[in-house]
Amino acid sequence: MLKKIFETKNCEQPVPKQLIESNINPQFIPQHIALIMDGNGRWAKEQGKPRTYGHYAGAERLKEIVRIADNIGVKALSAYAFSTENWKRPASEVNFIMKLLDRYLTNEIDTFQKNNVCVRFMGSRDGLPKNVQEKMDNAVQKTKDNTGIILNLAINYGGQTEILEAVKRIAAEVKNGLLSIDEINLNCFESHLYTKDLPPLDLLIRTGGDRRISNFMLWQIAYAEIWNTEIYWPDFSSEFFLQAIRDFQKRDRRFGGLNTK
Ligand code: FPP
Repeated sequence: MLKKIFETKNCEQPVPKQLIESNINPQFIPQHIALIMDGNGRWAKEQGKPRTYGHYAGAERLKEIVRIADNIGVKALSAYAFSTENWKRPASEVNFIMKLLDRYLTNEIDTFQKNNVCVRFMGSRDGLPKNVQEKMDNAVQKTKDNTGIILNLAINYGGQTEILEAVKRIAAEVKNGLLSIDEINLNCFESHLYTKDLPPLDLLIRTGGDRRISNFMLWQIAYAEIWNTEIYWPDFSSEFFLQAIRDFQKRDRRFGGLNTK
């Protein structure tokens, strides 16, 4: 099904207005973008509001970014909504984010469905409230045949855990005689990651000013381009997103080789 999704968008489609107006080359759109949506708390604090208000505004902002990304032809967006380390935050904030997820997955599913967005998740289910898990299953089930952008929400996600889980599954397959050690190569390893049927990661966008990876998509990031901004996530409008794409299009991606341009 995913293969079909990747083949459905082609160059014969009309070039979206946003691309023409924003000076973006339709032939060179990043296929898969990762988002570290940082700065919600600081944004809220600057407005004299509780941190949770920033998370609410951040969730609203994500909807806009999904729309514009889909409009310009991005195939997949992986958004870091809750990390394996975020459990260390005060219970009140964790509870708020869980409630927000529940509400988001209740209220937005019809819109995602209408807009042909395919919703998926990566991360561990351990410790997530039952109601959130049910909403996640429902969102996947309802949108699984959609052929537009894939919104891959990272919830209770950690890059190190993802790699460990892949190693464990591969080890079990070897132990059970389903796989030989010689068959373990890059393709085999990638097929055991959460992102196994997503396009390679092209671009990581981090808002909020910090210059670190924070345990996000450690394997997939190997040759992704990184774009940082001081802008807090709730302020990250479509215009900033398009700016990141324009900058991506100027990069000389060599993947360890020599000039490609
Ligand atoms: C980082 O900001 C953000 C998070 C830990 C959570 C991200 C969550 C959302 C954008 C909203 C939830 C998303 C959905 C889809 C419902 P921060 O709290 O670390 O901000 P700070 O660095 O200013 O403290």
